[in-house]
Amino acid sequence: MTGIRTYDYTNSLGTEHYAAALRVDIRDGLTRTPKSTAPTWFYDARGSELFEQITQLKEYPVCRAELGVLSLHARDIAVRTGARCLVELGSGSSTKTKLILEALGPAGLHYVPVDVSADALLQASAQLAQDYPQLILHAIRADFTAPLVLAELPDRGPRLFAFLGSTLGNFSRPARSPFLRELRSIMRPGDFLLIGADLVKTKREMVAAYDDSLGVTAAFNKNLLHVLNRELDADFEPDRFEHRAVWCSAEQHIEMRLRSRAEHRVAIRGLGLTVHFGRGEEWITERSAKFTTSGLQAELATAGLRTDQVWADVDTGFAVILAHVC
Ligand code: SAH
Ligand code: AVI
Repeated sequence: MTGIRTYDYTNSLGTEHYAAALRVDIRDGLTRTPKSTAPTWFYDARGSELFEQITQLKEYPVCRAELGVLSLHARDIAVRTGARCLVELGSGSSTKTKLILEALGPAGLHYVPVDVSADALLQASAQLAQDYPQLILHAIRADFTAPLVLAELPDRGPRLFAFLGSTLGNFSRPARSPFLRELRSIMRPGDFLLIGADLVKTKREMVAAYDDSLGVTAAFNKNLLHVLNRELDADFEPDRFEHRAVWCSAEQHIEMRLRSRAEHRVAIRGLGLTVHFGRGEEWITERSAKFTTSGLQAELATAGLRTDQVWADVDTGFAVILAHVC
């Protein structure tokens, strides 16, 4: 390591924005019934590391499945889009993105990974800068649930926006529409959107994917408690909660929950709030929607995005959709 940064980094998410958004979400989420908070807060350094472990679990097929589809079709994506700028939302470790970068040709390509997790972003960027020295890399720390601050995007040639890993599923059905419209509004005619979507499977498969036998997903879920203890000076005791994964068939989503083993109170000093948990009370910490290809295409169309191509793998139950601005 030379200590010289070979990529640009913009933190458009000031410490105050992150702290303020966390405070609002946790106060609102833990004072409503049922308790329900955003999944954004899982991803500190430990949470990002646990997510990477989840991607390797035999029960969690999402990453392997998407990797399979991208390995087969990255070349086609490159030919169809001709993109010289790739903007990726929720880029995390950027592992699967390498397939797209290589197909597009990294020399002179602009790559803009966007993530809320500074740890994940900086680690991935350092690795990419080393692996692809001719890539023009500009990492942006941002919250994609807030209006997107991507003013500095290169504006020449078609741009490819990517939202992989089925992270779109972490938006509720009503929240997906404004999110897709907002994304559409920063895209120009000629730009493309690539979405990776996990498809509906049997209840057994879906629950196992979020409640694995090694307990990695449980640790990921409970990592939220460590984040809140540190960021909001709270006194959550992880052993007082049990990890749960529940398939909600009407909404077509999995919920990760934290179930209180006994009645107790938790002080969140940073909020000046004491929260009561009843015995058996369940706090929804994440929703992960599962899709059908036709349903997702309809959602995209409503936001002004017309589908060019669907690459679906029926065996692994995963689809990658390429769409363009209508
Ligand atoms: N795309 C990667 C990572 C998926 S994990 C993959 O497919 O493997 C979800 C990623 O979204 C994490 O890196 C997390 O830090 C990021 N993320 C979660 N909430 C976010 C938010 N509100 N704004 C921006 N990034 C967010
Ligand atoms: C990032 N996101 C799409 C993952 C999901 O499947 O909802 C996060 C995750 N939660 C539990 N396991 C993985």
